[in-house]
Amino acid sequence: MTESKDNIEPNNKSEVKKDFEPKILGFLCNWCSYAGADLAGVSRLQYPPNIRVIRVMCSGRVDPVFVADALLKGIDGILILGCHLGDCHYGEGNYEAKANYEMLQILLKNIELEKRVELNWVSAAEGTYFSQIVSDFTENIRTMGPSPLSPKNKDFPEKSLISKMEAIKRVVSDGRIRKLVGRERSILNQGNVYEEKVDEDKYANILEEAVQTEYIRNYIYVTLKNNPSSVRDLSRKLKLASSEVLSHILVLRQRGLVNLTTIKDLSPIYIAIE
Ligand code: FES
Repeated sequence: MTESKDNIEPNNKSEVKKDFEPKILGFLCNWCSYAGADLAGVSRLQYPPNIRVIRVMCSGRVDPVFVADALLKGIDGILILGCHLGDCHYGEGNYEAKANYEMLQILLKNIELEKRVELNWVSAAEGTYFSQIVSDFTENIRTMGPSPLSPKNKDFPEKSLISKMEAIKRVVSDGRIRKLVGRERSILNQGNVYEEKVDEDKYANILEEAVQTEYIRNYIYVTLKNNPSSVRDLSRKLKLASSEVLSHILVLRQRGLVNLTTIKDLSPIYIAIE
């Protein structure tokens, strides 16, 4: 079950400042996209200077934790560029990038930040295409305004949004989710040890459910870290049924992440302990 929309009100309604210059972070794979950017440079093609480039050996090297970290630090937009599918110099790195991106999109939709992260493919010969992508993305971000997590945003800091982003960072760091995402290609193409294959729709549903469940669970954890609460308080705050909150608390206790701290007004109060 996903969290109620009422409770995850995005905070990106601030007025767009006319002089707003977006901070864009670009992760470019060394072999194709970075060479494409180089070509744009030597061809003197124009594109906005807002992008700061980090060269990585492969788009598959862009850990979703890097993206979550950058968003938490208030970066307005993130562009991940790799070789076209089938052209990765390490085989299937860009398929890994695609799987990570799809997981991030599921999570970022919860806080309406998904349009601030884009994945695209640029070859070494596509200097013009590179400059077009950077120009279009920068304009889209400019239209959206500063990230709601940026100190430039007049409503900053919005505490619950920061907690939700921290929960997202915890989900993308989670070994179970990473294993599921990392095995996407083999689950779809080779199947399990009994050679039972899962079709794409079914895999997408499994991923969505697993990722959203972990998102809620981690949001409960982060909330308890900031403020020890009862199941009833959490249920009210997250607009979830008490039984659902309790089931997540039980899992978090089994993982050794949450403990009972005291009893208040006959209600157990839980606290995050890591
Ligand atoms: Fe470019 Fe893998 S080497 S995406």
